[in-house]
Amino acid sequence: MTQPIRFYHRNAIREVSGASTTRTVLQYLREDARCTGTKEGCAEGDCGACTVVVGEPDGAGGVAFKAVNACVQFLPTLDGRALFTVEDLRQPDGSLHPVQQALVDCHGSQCGFCTPGFAMSMFALYEKHGHASTGCAHETTHKTVPSREEISNALTGNLCRCTGYRPIIDAAERMFDHAPLAPLNAQALARALDTLSRDDTFHYEHAGRQFHAPRTIEALAKLKAQKPDARILAGSTDVGLWVTKQLRDLGDIIYVGQIEAFKRVETGSEWIEIGAGVTVERAYEELAKTYPELEEMWQRFASLPIRNAGTLGGNVANGSPIGDSMPGLIALNARVVLASIDGTREMPLEDLYLAYQKKDMAAHEFVAAVRVPTRAGKRANLRFRTYKLSKRFDSDISAVCAAFAFIADGDVIREPRIAFGGMAATPKRAARAEAALADAQWHEATAQAAMRALSDDYAPLTDMRASSSYRLETAKSVLYRFWLETRPHDPVSKSKLDVRAIELVEAK
Ligand code: FES
Ligand code: FES
Repeated sequence: MTQPIRFYHRNAIREVSGASTTRTVLQYLREDARCTGTKEGCAEGDCGACTVVVGEPDGAGGVAFKAVNACVQFLPTLDGRALFTVEDLRQPDGSLHPVQQALVDCHGSQCGFCTPGFAMSMFALYEKHGHASTGCAHETTHKTVPSREEISNALTGNLCRCTGYRPIIDAAERMFDHAPLAPLNAQALARALDTLSRDDTFHYEHAGRQFHAPRTIEALAKLKAQKPDARILAGSTDVGLWVTKQLRDLGDIIYVGQIEAFKRVETGSEWIEIGAGVTVERAYEELAKTYPELEEMWQRFASLPIRNAGTLGGNVANGSPIGDSMPGLIALNARVVLASIDGTREMPLEDLYLAYQKKDMAAHEFVAAVRVPTRAGKRANLRFRTYKLSKRFDSDISAVCAAFAFIADGDVIREPRIAFGGMAATPKRAARAEAALADAQWHEATAQAAMRALSDDYAPLTDMRASSSYRLETAKSVLYRFWLETRPHDPVSKSKLDVRAIELVEAK
């Protein structure tokens, strides 16, 4: 039996039926709710014109707000959540919200097409850092103003073709000078969302297509056993494009974003276990506590709205050869936990990928967690780096993504692990290059032997992102860079190498 989709929008609880299971939040806003402030640019999560803010219970009596791309979110995933758009910023007396006022004051808009999206990314940042609200404007106090770097990171998913970014970043700094007339009351919103919570699986149906949102792993296992062909949906940052760009019919959908048990991160002495529903943003935040070497990859993984929606489990289950998580996880010796009605099993992550789009996974199985070893024991001497090569620094897909790790036993390399994305039909280890490193002394000659071996490990494709020869040569180059950064004597700092790389590009 179908149930209506219920969510909070424009100060009211909305109930929607009769929409397709894959109707996007953006289509709903513009065509059904007639909230046309939110724009469509690319319809694939790249430009940020459609950025909205979604609020969901944070488990501590409050609400967590996240900027996401409405163009790739399906409407039924809003069930039990709150939706905020640029129309919500206007204050009750018609005056501007501090986000809007700062954009005006700093001349942060020209044609204005990107502006609602920027405003909502800024609003999410404002709510994260802004006021401790009790619902009374006079009790509003600002807590912290984010750094310019943090502001830039929050805006990586928003593109502007005409204003230029400096005035917008200025506005994002300036907005914290003011408090809104009517601050968002998170406690009241949490109470409203509480009335929408469901005890059991949410079922929605339209035109013969079903959308199920189980609340427990057991319910998911049962559903997947009954409907092995149903499409599992997590952040929809890739699956969303199958609909918006390829016009595909997804069939029945099982959405895993309402399973609280999937949203846990447990860090023990030996393992960091990340549930399949943990967002990419949070997963990297947690992993970077143990592996700060992942920080650049974290910031360069797509954009904040995509990281807020996409999950690490989804990235791993998707297994794209150009996905950015797999090389680092494989180099770190991560394992993937699969579950089904028959129980669980786990394997080294690299073993999951058999061939292009082919995984060692039965139709009724699903990814339940990713387990990453900590730096316990001999791993205290782990040397680890990841590198991403893409045409744009932010919000771009890798041409080559590399990860290298080994345990330093004095000058000797133990247990080397090398993995690449963009070099083969799957994320893949470099067996021959690893053999060239294993138990050898970490000398320049060893690095060069491993670089030569990469030619035997990979025969990359030429496509619109890079040529085969570019991929192979840059793969060797980043391995050399890994040597420079981790050599036992006189390692070169990353920042020095970054400056040198810029000098070389400018000299060309
Ligand atoms: Fe471009 Fe959604 S329309 S990100
Ligand atoms: Fe025109 Fe940004 S103001 S695209």
